[in-house]
Order: sequence, then C-alpha cells, then structure tokens
Amino acid sequence: MILNVSDLTLYRNQQAVISNLNFTISEQQHFFLQGDIGTGKSTLLLALLGFVPIHTGNIEWFGNQCKTEQDFEKLRGPVGICFQNAEDQLFGPTVLDDVAFGCLNQGKSRERAYEIALEQLQKLGIEHLKSRPVNLLSGGEKNFTALAGVLAMQPKMLLLDEPTNGLDSKNKTKLVSLLKDLSLPMLIASHDDGFCHQLADNVLHL
Ligand SMILES: Nc1ncnc2c1ncn2[C@@H]1O[C@H](COP(=O)(O)OP(=O)(O)OP(=O)(O)O)[C@@H](O)[C@H]1O
Ligand SMILES: [Mg+2]
Repeated sequence: MILNVSDLTLYRNQQAVISNLNFTISEQQHFFLQGDIGTGKSTLLLALLGFVPIHTGNIEWFGNQCKTEQDFEKLRGPVGICFQNAEDQLFGPTVLDDVAFGCLNQGKSRERAYEIALEQLQKLGIEHLKSRPVNLLSGGEKNFTALAGVLAMQPKMLLLDEPTNGLDSKNKTKLVSLLKDLSLPMLIASHDDGFCHQLADNVLHL
C-alpha cells in the first residue's frame, strides 16, 4: 500500500475544506484530484506531507501512520511534491543550482549532485536553461525546473499540483509522455480535463 487516507478532515481559516475524506492508492497509478476552485485540492496535497495540520483522521504512507512533523519529514524526498506555484519551491540562484539543491540536501557530494542535476535537465529537455537565474524563467520553464528538482531526488511517488499551469499544448504533450515514462505512482491535482483524460487511471472529485 502506498497511501491510505481515512476520515480525513482538514481546516483552513477555521473552516473545514476537506471533510471525512477516504481514498487509497495501492499500486502504481496516475490518480487525479479534480474539483472546483477552492475545494481543497492543494490543501490536501500539502497536508499529505505535513504542511497543513490534520484536523481529524489518518494519513498512512507506505503502511506507516503519519502524525508528527518527524513522520512527515522522513517522507519529503521519497514523496516529491511540485507546488501549484512553482516559484514557491525555486531557490536558485541558477536552474542548475536549484535542481542540485535537493541532492545536496540528501547528502550527495557537490560533484555528484551537479552531475545528477545536469542529467535531469537533459532528461526534461531543458539543459539550455542551466545557467539561467530562476527569477528570469517563464511560468512553464519554472514548472519544468521545479519538476527536475523533485525528480533529481529519485522519489518513489509524486504529488503534482496543477502541473499544466502555464504550459502550451506542445509542452503539455511533452509533460504527458514524460510522466508516463517515469513509471511512478502519482497524485495530481488538475483542472485540465484534456490532461486528465490523457493520463488518469483514477479520478477523485472533491
Ligand atoms: N494559506 C491559506 N490560509 C488560509 N486559507 C487558505 C490558505 N490557502 C487556501 N486557503 C483556503 O482554503 C480553501 C481551499 O483552498 P485550496 O487552495 O486547497 O483549493 P484548491 O482546490 O486547490 O483551489 P484551486 O483549484 O483554485 O487551486 C479555499 O477556500 C482557500 O481560500
Ligand atoms: Mg490548488
């Protein structure tokens, strides 16, 4: 079992945004979250890694119940997350530094971290951006850079929040084939019906 969410209630601004939610991801799946704006998709993804507190209910990752900050901290890395706003996770200064950052954090040597980062940029077809300051990237370039940083840490599972934001149709197609080729379980919040249609094995409507 990868993820089991049971009776989960989450609050934002003293109001329940997710109430008694139950779902399981038990195998490699492209599991989609859909729902109108403000229905709590991002809140749920953040809570799954302990960035929003659990009000009531349980989150179990890989068979282990997660409650404390320590429990969640262990998951950040094995479970990679791309935030809805990619700017929230880019540190820079350059694209290459940014993508290497997570690997350095994992304790890899500087040389190895930069080698992995460059390989990852090549895999995503954005090695030409390697020396670019992250604040000078386009929205779509920021998305791919954030994804490269997450993938460089070799996650076992991905949480992606509106990954097609800012992408044109050519880059959406590129993202779909890239995600298919990864062979990783993923939970994806998306308003993009076309994208969902191309990739989803399972859809949960909030
Ligand atoms: N940092 C925050 N502090 C307080 N309330 C928040 C915060 N972020 C979101 N909310 C509120 O929580 C509710 C759920 O927001 P959330 O961002 O999870 O929705 P969403 O389904 O991801 O929406 P969208 O489709 O627009 O991305 C909204 O009513 C929102 O106003
Ligand atoms: Mg959202």
